[in-house]
Amino acid sequence: MSQALTASALAARLHAHAPYSKFLVGAAIEDENGAIHTGCNIENATYGLTVCAERIAIFKAMSEGVRHFTRIAIAADTDTLTPPCGACRQILWEFAGDIEITLVNLKGQTETLRLSTLFPRAFDASFI
Ligand code: THU
Repeated sequence: MSQALTASALAARLHAHAPYSKFLVGAAIEDENGAIHTGCNIENATYGLTVCAERIAIFKAMSEGVRHFTRIAIAADTDTLTPPCGACRQILWEFAGDIEITLVNLKGQTETLRLSTLFPRAFDASFI
């Protein structure tokens, strides 16, 4: 758990473009060098083309050459801390493995767990 990372996720959340759901999400992923890469959800009128905060964050980082990640924080305004959606779990597993995940809300409440807890028995390249 990193205070800098949760603060970055909370700040990134404010950039969310979520006019349809009004559900703002921020994510901040840390790489092996300690650099933080942020993302927010960006919605589309077709709904289905919406991209979650977590995927924006990791794809932004990967597009800049980053390949190794240590932890991610996900911020949303919910009393029950918001976990990553199924699609994001699959993407995180593929590119970040059993990464540490910290969920945080606007009250500053947090929970830290491993992706394998949320996403057991994942399908991945090892089966191909
Ligand atoms: N959303 C995320 O960005 N991350 C999640 O883990 C859950 C859902 C976004 C997608 C959509 O813009 C809004 O939250 C409501 O589903």
